[in-house]
Amino acid sequence: MNEIKTIGIVGAGAMGRGIAQIAAQAGLEVLLFDVNAQAVAAARENLQQMWSKLAGKGKISDELAAASLERVTPCSQLQDMSRADLVVEAIVERLDVKRELFQQLEAIVAPSCILASNTSSLSITAIAAGCKQPGRVAGYHFFNPVPLMKVVEIIDGLRTEPEVGDALMTLARRMGHTPVRAKDMPGFIVNHAGRGMNIEGLRLAQEAVAPFYQVDAIMREQAGFRMGPFELLDLTALDVSHPVMESIYHQFYDEPRFRPSPITAVRFAGGLLGRKTGEGFYRYTEGKQQVPQAPAVPELAPGLRVWVAPYHSVGHKRASALLRDLGVGVIATDTPPSDALIVVTPYGEDTSSVVGKHQLDGERTVALDTFFGLEKGKRRVVMCSPATLPQWRDAAHALFASDGTAVSVIDDSAGFVGQRMVASIVNVACDIAQQTIASPEDIGLAVSLGLGYPMGGPLNMGDTLGAAHVLEILRAMYKVTGDSRYRASLWLQRRVQLGLPLSASPACVAR
Ligand code: NAI
Repeated sequence: MNEIKTIGIVGAGAMGRGIAQIAAQAGLEVLLFDVNAQAVAAARENLQQMWSKLAGKGKISDELAAASLERVTPCSQLQDMSRADLVVEAIVERLDVKRELFQQLEAIVAPSCILASNTSSLSITAIAAGCKQPGRVAGYHFFNPVPLMKVVEIIDGLRTEPEVGDALMTLARRMGHTPVRAKDMPGFIVNHAGRGMNIEGLRLAQEAVAPFYQVDAIMREQAGFRMGPFELLDLTALDVSHPVMESIYHQFYDEPRFRPSPITAVRFAGGLLGRKTGEGFYRYTEGKQQVPQAPAVPELAPGLRVWVAPYHSVGHKRASALLRDLGVGVIATDTPPSDALIVVTPYGEDTSSVVGKHQLDGERTVALDTFFGLEKGKRRVVMCSPATLPQWRDAAHALFASDGTAVSVIDDSAGFVGQRMVASIVNVACDIAQQTIASPEDIGLAVSLGLGYPMGGPLNMGDTLGAAHVLEILRAMYKVTGDSRYRASLWLQRRVQLGLPLSASPACVAR
């Protein structure tokens, strides 16, 4: 395939401009067209300002700024795309309109010209179906804002010729982006993998496990994510995310893992869209997020006696070590004495299940999440059952906060907050790998660059935290809730059975 020197961009909105910017900076000639002539003029103006700002800050040279602008040719008709080696479409997200555009383009461009779509939710195969040469059609899915989000998904439709995707990979690297390759499946990689966090966050909210701000704080300060689900939903806005949640769910024929929530349906209908409307899961005053005040840390009860349940060996070990660090002696009896706080450390179970199974005194029992470790400064999560009395809840809160570490107290939940969110995220990613939508390596790159997840993306995250533990959490959650959304992916089950890392590709594949 010839080197791509001239790129046509159809649609001069947010995405088209961003793609024009990185392409021109990389030395490509850019032909920019939009049905709305004003959009082209505005895009050129915007690019000029952007480049002079970057040059002013010393991020690029004055020469590159001037040359980049020089390389952008505003076009007044689609016919002007005839010189392009590649046309990237970034127009309205409608299959009929995109199909028609691709058919028109085929009559204009050379037979060797690649036609790519920046669609985030439509099938590339469906867009290509109206074309005479569907083999030259591929997805080129950039993220907003394009110059800062340095990853692009290259999507092979069922008829896309492999060289087409290869050429787009090479070009992405030239433009300074990391390319990842995906099959034409709903949500591709990033929007598919992103289901785990948002949907599980909404499930937690529906079960009234904890207020939104606590869930976000736990995801940031315990699980190590940059943002929790509600901050993220407020940023993307529900008029974008709610329809995407519905669309991906339906496109996977009502897959329970992707089941949307009436919480976003009601908020969307009510106009509580997020940051941009001043109110979403949080209120925004002059653009500043208003976070509710967390409850004060209660007084530490003098002479508190604590019994840690031995049922989960890792949990027991971690909780006992923490208590020693906090200067509290652990009572080493097989059953809890009648005057002690009872601490259980489940993986995937709720407090009530542990209390019921072991016939504990529910009034004195709390659960402590040990899955992420309990080091000082990492938010700790204490979970009550409906039977836990406030004085024992407060005793546990005070105890686990006594070294100055923040504590969230939540209501009963199979898998606390962090365990179930992370297990869901890992499980969805495992299923993306199982379906061979993308390689484990590309899943890691796409998700860490596209969603900013920690630990090198969800499969590596599972490996770091322990795949067997993730499986244990999912199995317990499935048992407690009976909800098939928690059934473990075959990818996860098999790798745990075989002692293989989640991030490793299979040694051999079907022929
Ligand atoms: P936008 O609304 O900012 O810009 C779309 C532009 O396309 C408008 O200027 C409009 O006049 C023009 N247009 C509409 N129909 C046209 C046609 N038939 N021929 C030529 N121009 C036409 O939209 P945005 O956000 O730039 O999105 C464009 C595409 O990129 C959509 O497919 C969207 O799903 C996808 N996308 C958007 C992302 C985002 O965060 N905004 C992220 C990734 C993909």
